[in-house]
Amino acid sequence: MDQEHAVALNGNREVWLTYIRGTIPRSLLAGCSVTLVGLYAGWCVWNKTMTVSNLIPILTWAGMASQQMRFLARTEREINWCTPSLKSLRHALGLQSQFTETAQAEELDDACVEIEFKDLGHCYDHKRNGQTISPVTVLSGLSFKIKPGQKVACIGPSGAGKSTITRLIQRYMDPTKGSILINGHDLRDISLRSWRRIIGYIPQQSKVFEGTLRDNLLYGLSAQQRAVISDEEILRTMSLLRVDFGSRLTHGLYTRVGRNGMKLSGGEAQRIMICAAILKRPKFMIIDEATSSLDAENQAAVQSGIDQLLTHHETSAIIIAHRLSTIKRCDLFVVLKPIDSLSPGESQIEYIGSNLEDVFKNSPIFNRLAELEGVRMSA
Ligand SMILES: Nc1ncnc2c1ncn2[C@@H]1O[C@H](COP(=O)(O)OP(=O)(O)OP(=O)(O)O)[C@@H](O)[C@H]1O
Ligand SMILES: [Mg+2]
Repeated sequence: MDQEHAVALNGNREVWLTYIRGTIPRSLLAGCSVTLVGLYAGWCVWNKTMTVSNLIPILTWAGMASQQMRFLARTEREINWCTPSLKSLRHALGLQSQFTETAQAEELDDACVEIEFKDLGHCYDHKRNGQTISPVTVLSGLSFKIKPGQKVACIGPSGAGKSTITRLIQRYMDPTKGSILINGHDLRDISLRSWRRIIGYIPQQSKVFEGTLRDNLLYGLSAQQRAVISDEEILRTMSLLRVDFGSRLTHGLYTRVGRNGMKLSGGEAQRIMICAAILKRPKFMIIDEATSSLDAENQAAVQSGIDQLLTHHETSAIIIAHRLSTIKRCDLFVVLKPIDSLSPGESQIEYIGSNLEDVFKNSPIFNRLAELEGVRMSA
């Protein structure tokens, strides 16, 4: 990942350097040249080597030439904006997959999903100057099951490894210890394409892509799903999640968003991503702090939309949250301890239970988080 980030950062730097070195001087040159032509022509008229009637077309032509030069500078800037993205894209397309799939990889169908974590543990390689210095354990001894249709909340302090669990479920990497079983099959033996087709992911940090609102909402859908989904269905889901941009949607679903379009706040981008994940109708939903950047009113609206849609589609889900108000309706609560508080071989799960009041009574970590939020579990 580090390498990809470096490529992206270099891309941004390259854009700005090219802009500063190329486009700004050219725009200045265009402005200065018309001024110089104007001054020279004025001087000629003053010295009576040119008539005033000649001055007018000369100034008009100089103005037109300057306008064309500015237009060229603008086009050059647009090309410069695109070049690093194209380079990054070429780099990304050339990346080798870290995973090899066996010829007998299990193809998942559209049935409900059961996930089992079996003594799951994970270490990250810590690197300095490109050298791996030491593997650092971030997850240890996680064993629990998410049954079909069940919504499981994963709670824990910052750095406990919650987002790492979401990465392992999506198989961005393989666990260094234990396994994840999907409907009884090890995730490593499952066709990655068929797995990712049926999962939806709402990340901790939301970003929209350059393009139309519709492109962003449908990016996770297969060509088949895109062909059948109607604009009415998209708009219905948007209104359920209170994704409403009012008069800013000048071209409806075809309004451009992102850098060259409508600018979105973090909360708005997050609601678009939630909507996109729901439109995919996944069988398993991974929600990582999905409502963290929304205000209280929008958070409640989005949460109730997610709840309704999860129930409706019989989707299993893992919901990662700091805010306890967002996970009240879950079926199972898994509380994680910070990894550095564990003795060797100890499981990271502090408490697991289906009754929120029991979790409140038995988990000191949950208790502390609830206290910080001012949440009371009184009957
Ligand atoms: N790619 C990585 N390489 C090395 N260490 C990492 C990497 N990603 C995460 N970590 C480390 O792993 C630990 C767990 O990170 P993770 O993001 O899973 O925590 P989290 O529980 O989601 O935290 P938060 O609640 O703040 O989002 C942290 O100490 C983090 O620094
Ligand atoms: Mg996280």
